[in-house]
Amino acid sequence: MKKKLLFIGPPGAGKGTQANLFCKKYGIDHLSTGDLLRDEVSSGSVLGIKAAETMNQGELVSDELVLSIVEGRLLNSNKGWLLDGFPRNVNQANSLKHLLEKINQPLEAVISIKIADDYLIKRLLARGREDDNEEVIVNRLKIYRYKTSPLIDLYSKQGILKEIDGNDDIDVVFSCIEKALG
Ligand code: AP5
Repeated sequence: MKKKLLFIGPPGAGKGTQANLFCKKYGIDHLSTGDLLRDEVSSGSVLGIKAAETMNQGELVSDELVLSIVEGRLLNSNKGWLLDGFPRNVNQANSLKHLLEKINQPLEAVISIKIADDYLIKRLLARGREDDNEEVIVNRLKIYRYKTSPLIDLYSKQGILKEIDGNDDIDVVFSCIEKALG
């Protein structure tokens, strides 16, 4: 099973859900920048307070902050890792490439989870996280399309992209991911 992974997809695609299941089953580190940023927000730090404002508008927090969080975690990971929600733009993808070269741990596969817009909006409204209201979801989706989705083409050209249909039940999607990474 591949163990140096990246999950990409629009908000509500199921990246976090699937990443949790996968990391538990295969014993690798789940590096979710969204979760790590929410931890920072809960800590009440100055960085966290600043990040919360940005996250609640559905915008991306600064590349510098996200990179410093990811770098620390990757340097300390020795059993495999799954990046969830990072990279989210071309600059972050370039920084990741350099970091992985430095630590000599090449990315083995990228899972792109596809989902219909009406499904993802329903899922997120039902979850009701602070950034899960209609106006912010629309902005998160817009940012995903403009800034993050070009990375799909980038990883496709590298021959490591696997596309997964995220519209199905959680266990069905998980089986497809396992099959794609086996
Ligand atoms: P982040 O936490 O990464 O949010 P996101 O990308 O919008 O993703 P979500 O968590 O909403 O969706 P998901 O695809 O993980 O789906 P999930 O499994 O949770 O980022 C939040 C914010 O942090 C960003 O907007 C930005 O401000 C900042 N940020 C994060 N990373 C950054 C970065 N690299 N650079 C800059 N800023 C960054 O599922 C959603 C719901 O659907 C759940 O309730 C779940 O139970 C349900 N569900 C999942 N799968 C299914 C299924 N198959 N069937 C039915 N329900 C399902």
